[in-house]
Amino acid sequence: MGRISAETINELNDRIDVLSVIGDYVKLEKKSGRWWGRCPFHNEKTPSFTVDPDRKTYYCFGCHEGGSVINFVMEMDKLSYPEAVEILAKRFGVTVIRDGVFIDTSETEKKKDDLIVLYRRVAGSFNYILTGTPEGNGALCYIKERGVTDELIQRFRLGYAPADPFWLYKFLLGKGYSESFLAESGLFTKANPCRALFSDRLMFPIANRQGQITAFGGRILNGDGPKYINSPESLIYKKRETLFAIDLAMNGIRETKEAVIAEGYMDVIALHAAGVCNAVAPLGTAFTEEQARLLGRWADKIKLMFDSDSAGRTAAVKAILTCRAASIPAFVIVTEKTPEYMHSNMKDFKDPADILKEKGAGYLQQFVKHCILDFEYLLAENKRSLSGSDSMGKAKAVASLFPFLDMIDSEVERETYIRRIAEAFGTNTQPVLNDYKVWHDGSGAAPSAQPSDSQPIRMSEELYLLNAVAVNCGENPSLFARLRSTIPVDAFTDRCARELYITLEECVRAGNMNFESVLNGIETEELKRFVAEKAATREFSEKPELIVADSIRRVQEERLTRKLGELVSKIRAAKNDDLPVDDLIHEKMFIDAELQSLKGVNK
Ligand code: UTP
Ligand code: MN
Repeated sequence: MGRISAETINELNDRIDVLSVIGDYVKLEKKSGRWWGRCPFHNEKTPSFTVDPDRKTYYCFGCHEGGSVINFVMEMDKLSYPEAVEILAKRFGVTVIRDGVFIDTSETEKKKDDLIVLYRRVAGSFNYILTGTPEGNGALCYIKERGVTDELIQRFRLGYAPADPFWLYKFLLGKGYSESFLAESGLFTKANPCRALFSDRLMFPIANRQGQITAFGGRILNGDGPKYINSPESLIYKKRETLFAIDLAMNGIRETKEAVIAEGYMDVIALHAAGVCNAVAPLGTAFTEEQARLLGRWADKIKLMFDSDSAGRTAAVKAILTCRAASIPAFVIVTEKTPEYMHSNMKDFKDPADILKEKGAGYLQQFVKHCILDFEYLLAENKRSLSGSDSMGKAKAVASLFPFLDMIDSEVERETYIRRIAEAFGTNTQPVLNDYKVWHDGSGAAPSAQPSDSQPIRMSEELYLLNAVAVNCGENPSLFARLRSTIPVDAFTDRCARELYITLEECVRAGNMNFESVLNGIETEELKRFVAEKAATREFSEKPELIVADSIRRVQEERLTRKLGELVSKIRAAKNDDLPVDDLIHEKMFIDAELQSLKGVNK
């Protein structure tokens, strides 16, 4: 599968309805000729995110994120460029044509596609074996006994991996797969490439956001071995960036602006069974910051529903910090009955699966509604471990809240918590504040300022010119033609101007002269945003021909003046060394004349 052709991109650009695509993620309102919404890339109350339906671009005046609509979908759904194009093309009825030119990328793309097909087939077979063959009967009884209905089995595409560890290999060879491809598929053990990783296990397919299966978790049913085995990471599966059931939960998360994190596969299924359709789980690892950030794109808060054992409580504390590090407040759904928690009229439970089994869907659904703010949870947890009025213990309990305080961006919010801590432990605010300062300065706590390695872009005369050309290149491709016939690319000294020039050049060659393609062609992220911003501010939209003509003149002037300076020093040096200067002087006269004529036009 080759690179997506220019025609495909052009056609997609013609057909795509930018407002409906971006409108799926952001509520847009038209104000003074532009569409505005609250930026999905940063938290804000008043809209500073704009969409330009003509240029098919977006730009946020607050956080300076910007780009084409394809970039937008890539960002929001964490997709690669070809993935985003594929999805949009499907939606707007555009056939994707590929050139088959760039062998390198197409090979991995092809492998990914093949893996996706393989995993879909294998999941289908496991599902059939579970639901339609005697061999799967034991597993089917087990899962049904745990309260999972036929409908849920299908929704989650659950399956059963046969007990014979060599069955899968033979089965797939029979389907025409090569030994080498299977060896790299992640479905077989490293030690013996004919032996399946999963045998006699209940299979939980793990899908990406598009619902494509990319990995499995397999639960043991009989015998010894680890309770769960999970697929290794692969071209299509990165566990830190994936969440179990994200494909099924996406809509629910968007609608409720909340996500529920449970610990295990079974818990997620139980929650979905109870109508809590925004529940997901990490994949055999702790909840990661990547996962939190991903959810943070749609969710304003994350509810944690972890097991009530001590491992579950430790995981909850870690997850709280992870959420806060991603600037998302967390809430804890407490599954155990303790005097500290408000809904203590409820019984103790181990986990959501346990609640579903014992009390049914309605009860579990109600249960999830009772949650407490992460800070209050931490406070209660720390007070609980404190015995009597032991003052050292108190200091320690207070100190264990400091990592949380460290994650809070707002001074005001932090101060509120400090006051609350003092109150809860029967002390004054100042000592808590002092202890926190000492801890913070001495603990090597992470510096709060985020170092940025990318230099801000400065608007030079050259960059101004290229921006004016790029922003208008769709409606007015002759602007670039004009630039090109006057100033060659190597005459530019500004690095960004050069990059833009080259990008425009490439778009012309590819027959892709539109703003969207130019933006996508820009490799430097900072520059891409910079150009998107210029398009959004419309500073180059009025009379672009004049702007460009003027700017070409100024850049020419700059360039000729620079050349003149260089020539003058060359002439001086040559005279010193008694070398001939005639040619140099001739050149200087020529440039003088050019400069004069430029200035003449200027008057
Ligand atoms: P649990 O043991 O709580 O599993 O582990 P569970 O999904 O709730 O299953 P039941 O209800 O006991 O049948 C929570 C999660 O930790 C990971 C899995 O992702 C599991 O869902 N895990 C657990 C592993 O990856 N390997 C293990 O051996 C155990
Ligand atoms: Mn569990």
